[in-house]
Amino acid sequence: MTSGSATFAGKIRVRAPAKINLHLSVGAVRRDGYHELVTVFHAVDLCDELTIAHAERHSVRSHPADGVPAGVKNLAGAAARMLARRSGAGGPVAIEISKHIPVAGGMAGGSADAAAALVGCAALWGLDIARGDLAMIAADLGSDVPFALTGGTAVGTGRGELLSPVLARTPLHWVLALAADGLATPVVFAELDRLRAAGDPPRVGSVRDILAALASGEAAAVAAALGNDLQAAAISLQPGLRRTLRAGIAAGALAGVVSGSGPTVALLCFDAESAGGVAAELAGSGTCRAVRVATGPAAGARVVGPH
Ligand code: C5P
Repeated sequence: MTSGSATFAGKIRVRAPAKINLHLSVGAVRRDGYHELVTVFHAVDLCDELTIAHAERHSVRSHPADGVPAGVKNLAGAAARMLARRSGAGGPVAIEISKHIPVAGGMAGGSADAAAALVGCAALWGLDIARGDLAMIAADLGSDVPFALTGGTAVGTGRGELLSPVLARTPLHWVLALAADGLATPVVFAELDRLRAAGDPPRVGSVRDILAALASGEAAAVAAALGNDLQAAAISLQPGLRRTLRAGIAAGALAGVVSGSGPTVALLCFDAESAGGVAAELAGSGTCRAVRVATGPAAGARVVGPH
């Protein structure tokens, strides 16, 4: 890694997308405590936006701040510090997060902020850093951070950090049902371990089904192939999610799935118009805190302006 010449004197603006897992198959627990995964990540155009500026010392502020980790626990700040350490360049930065991705919602909002901080700091400091090197730092920050860098649609293996892109350009139209309370990822994985020790909750089928459905470009085929092993655990912890899923289908969605470790429910709709109708009906159903309409696939973390 070297330091280039095109440093930004002032602030930089960066955007990174939320993700939905179209398919999430959870395998055995590894020696390092992580679960082996096969997943299909899909980035949607619900984005957090960060402004990053040179500063006397590191700081991170989020608007709104509810539930967002502060100080050294914030993954965006950790990303800036790790990039400075590994590259031997850069300095303290002030990061402001305009938060739109639900916090503790299973949509990798913290990972998106970390990916945005990596891309933003690299640009602010004029680092000439290979995308692969950035991806390695991303993987050390968290399992979902490499995908937030790349965006699009991709198969994730290992603990989710090993990515292969999937060609799936047909837009998918989603309604996202946001829950009142968050779920912590480790708690949801532990709940799945508990459910599996007590019995055998149903497992999702082969990843091939969703890949074939994506290749077909048919929303109905993608809907039929959605699946998430963590869904049973998320519902066990928040039984109300069952009602949210049912209300989404009753409102006209093709299918619904809990996103990642939840509790956000992602409802796939036939087209943009249908998504608008489903969102309006779901908003009045009393089964979720708020609804958002989103489209995927969306681009990964990227610089959107100098200030
Ligand atoms: O990698 P990340 O820090 O996002 O993971 C958060 C937690 O989620 C881990 O500490 C672990 O408890 C759980 N996890 C897992 N298997 C994975 C990914 C995450 O058990 N593949």
